[in-house]
Amino acid sequence: MSHTPLPSDGPLRPHTYDGIEEFDHRLPNWWLFTLYGAIVFSVLYWILGFQMELASTPEEALLETMRENQLAAARNSGEVSDPILWKLSRETQTIEAGRATFAALCASCHQPDLGGGIGPNLKDTVWIHGGQPIQIHALITRGVLEKGMPTWGPVLGQNKITEVTAFILSHHPAP
Ligand code: HEC
Repeated sequence: MSHTPLPSDGPLRPHTYDGIEEFDHRLPNWWLFTLYGAIVFSVLYWILGFQMELASTPEEALLETMRENQLAAARNSGEVSDPILWKLSRETQTIEAGRATFAALCASCHQPDLGGGIGPNLKDTVWIHGGQPIQIHALITRGVLEKGMPTWGPVLGQNKITEVTAFILSHHPAP
């Protein structure tokens, strides 16, 4: 097969594959733009992401997501145990939710700083009813009506009691 080049087609490259010939055209600008753009992007990404560590690496992002999922699962499963409550007591989102509940319902008797008033101090190491996380959780749930500590189980539900317990524990060093 023969091809008669038109003057506008430009020069032909000096090879033929299966009868196919190629013009020696310049690459289009949009194509070059994406190529150089990708190169510039990769250099900036490398500097910002890996040298200055502004972005988290995929491993860190994965670990972070897995940690969040674990905590969410622990919170939503309704399961409470000392390790889960200690873990939640280091988690900002849970602590903040617990802080809001505490400020609204508990601070009137226990003081906003947990220092104690009508109800006892909750940030010292003295516990009337036991200082293990599940003991605190259980005590808040059932209350001590004869001493003036209301029963919060039916009012708050398990999740909110878990959050407020985590908030109280956040004032104590984790084991
Ligand atoms: C009307 C006052 C009052 C309110 C409101 C109140 N408490 Fe209490 N709380 C008490 C009293 C009084 C005690 C002490 C009970 C006892 O002597 O057995 C107590 C005891 C406790 C204890 C056990 C402390 C220990 O040393 O074992 C915890 C934990 C606790 N409260 C948490 C809470 C939380 C969380 C809230 C809010 C959801 C709350 N309280 C709201 C009065 C209150």
